Amino acid sequence: MSVLLLRDVRVVDPLGEWRGDVAIEDGAFAALGQGFSLPGAQVLEGEGRTLLPGFVDLHAHFRDPGFPEKEDLQTGSWAAAHGGFTAVSLMANTDPPCDSPEVVRYIREKAQALNLVEIYPVGAVTKGLRGEELADLEALAPYVWAYSDDGKGVARADVMAEALRRARALGKPILSHPEFPGVGHPLGEELMVARDLRLAQETGARLHLQHLSSPGSARLLQEARSAGAPVTAEVTPHHLGLSQERFGDYRVNPPLPPTEGVRGELVAALRAGAFAAVATDHAPHTPEDKARGAPGISGIETAFPLLYTTFVREGLLSLPELSRYLAFGPARILGLRKGLVRPGYDGDAVLVEEDEGFVVDEGSFFSKSRNTPVLGMRLWGKIWATIHRGEIVYIKGRLRGRDFDDHRQVVGAG
Ligand code: NCD
Repeated sequence: MSVLLLRDVRVVDPLGEWRGDVAIEDGAFAALGQGFSLPGAQVLEGEGRTLLPGFVDLHAHFRDPGFPEKEDLQTGSWAAAHGGFTAVSLMANTDPPCDSPEVVRYIREKAQALNLVEIYPVGAVTKGLRGEELADLEALAPYVWAYSDDGKGVARADVMAEALRRARALGKPILSHPEFPGVGHPLGEELMVARDLRLAQETGARLHLQHLSSPGSARLLQEARSAGAPVTAEVTPHHLGLSQERFGDYRVNPPLPPTEGVRGELVAALRAGAFAAVATDHAPHTPEDKARGAPGISGIETAFPLLYTTFVREGLLSLPELSRYLAFGPARILGLRKGLVRPGYDGDAVLVEEDEGFVVDEGSFFSKSRNTPVLGMRLWGKIWATIHRGEIVYIKGRLRGRDFDDHRQVVGAG
């Protein structure tokens, strides 16, 4: 039996906060309390640092297979661990795209060998992400938790309707990247949101709306939900935290809110319960690709500090609320027993130094890519350590598998 004792931590989860000791036994939270000593346990002294449930990201691009110059499963996992994430759902716009069992099996096997964070691949909705012919959703089903053509909306209503029907039969959600091109951004997003909500009601399938950026989309979502549609949605840290008015027109899809006013409406929608999850849409690109106009933000490492600085320090969200959006909410959508520090939940945790301020610079990243408008920003809420099922995977700039093999090398015995 392996036991990790986290001594003297300030535990914060969606149910509240308390200070004391947390034991993780065989990968799950076990005893919680004060002042215990467990013979044989490894001890990590928290020294009053804040402990949150490990974060769960519903939306990231690790670019593997196909774009090793931007990211791969190893550097993406390093970046995730550094950002406090212990489970990550990966989009299908790889090369080849994730539209066949061979590609998903490659991703799962490589992720398993890395053994850093949990990787949950998403399968493509359509073959080659071309939006025409459905991928073999049934053949993909044993390996994926959901389907998405993220990067592009599924333009054809007949294709989306059939995808929802088949996904429903398989018991899996469809994740929609809501964007009709050519009609302007908020209209293009809201039109597809409205269509997909209607199709979800019609088919009874589970629908999850990705990276909503228009307050109008949130209103449509709330209406459909009050009519009983089984629908959830995510919003990104950059759409909540950054506007074009203050950060310029940084190229990302969907675009940043144009004004502080629109950004405020999106934050109000979050506070009103529109979004169950904050998802990073971590989209790494090389400087050359960015110069050629590639949309995207490398965001998994700065997600928590950006949200902590913009919302928690400003008194706009409490830390238990932020914890819900980064862990419990997305874990429920993924069907994982994560997101609470309670006995029986997965022993995934992140230790944060709330008052540790730092400037985001090129050297702060484990991702291969540093494409983000937050470079140069001063943020608080530095990630100190990340624990996955009772194993330390990141601590003080060091990563398991890269800088140490086993946390016995970095913590003391109790
Ligand atoms: C995404 C990417 O780079 O894969 N980019 C982004 O700006 N979000 C795909 C997308 O356009 O959604």
